[in-house]
Amino acid sequence: MPFDAPFYQDEVDVLIDQAKLAARIRELGEQLTLDYRDKDLTMISILKGSVFFATDLARQIALPLTMEFLGVSSYAAMETTGEVRITSDVTKPMAGKDLLIVEDIIDTGLTMKFIIDNLQARHPSSVRVCTLLEKPARARTKVPIDYCGFVIEDVFVVGFGLDYSEKYRNLPFVGAMRQTAAT
Ligand code: IMP
Ligand code: MG
Repeated sequence: MPFDAPFYQDEVDVLIDQAKLAARIRELGEQLTLDYRDKDLTMISILKGSVFFATDLARQIALPLTMEFLGVSSYAAMETTGEVRITSDVTKPMAGKDLLIVEDIIDTGLTMKFIIDNLQARHPSSVRVCTLLEKPARARTKVPIDYCGFVIEDVFVVGFGLDYSEKYRNLPFVGAMRQTAAT
């Protein structure tokens, strides 16, 4: 048991446990297997947060898909402008591909809007969005979400890829950060 005496126990409360995550990811995988059966699926996993979700999801899709990773980072003023910088680009041309952007969470939506616009400019056949979590309360721009794992309240979450100051990504569940721990 790797988390027998949890190091996070005073800081994080379990919000979505491992069993719920696995069951939902299996459902999404089944749906994606149907939807992409005649397509040339390329999963674009957004670094770093979506890696845990994307690798689990890929293993639930029974198709010969391709995986790419796109690193993005926000500028300081991003909360107001939505301007994002690409820190690590994909390795192949995206023209003609059926792209599935895989993200950990859509909060204001500004990051996802930038990513969609950036990938659309490379002339793929199609672009769809799959996010593990969505926080609709904080949405600032409308982004099309084709596949969503869980809709959550406006709480700061960590684990299963999501971080607080680069920590907690390795928690095997999605947890809510306690106010006292986040300040
Ligand atoms: P958005 O551009 O506001 O939609 O959110 C972009 C990024 O903010 C996400 O990819 C996450 O990295 C981060 N983020 C938003 N909400 C949370 C949270 O509750 N926990 C951890 N990271 C978050
Ligand atoms: Mg992120």
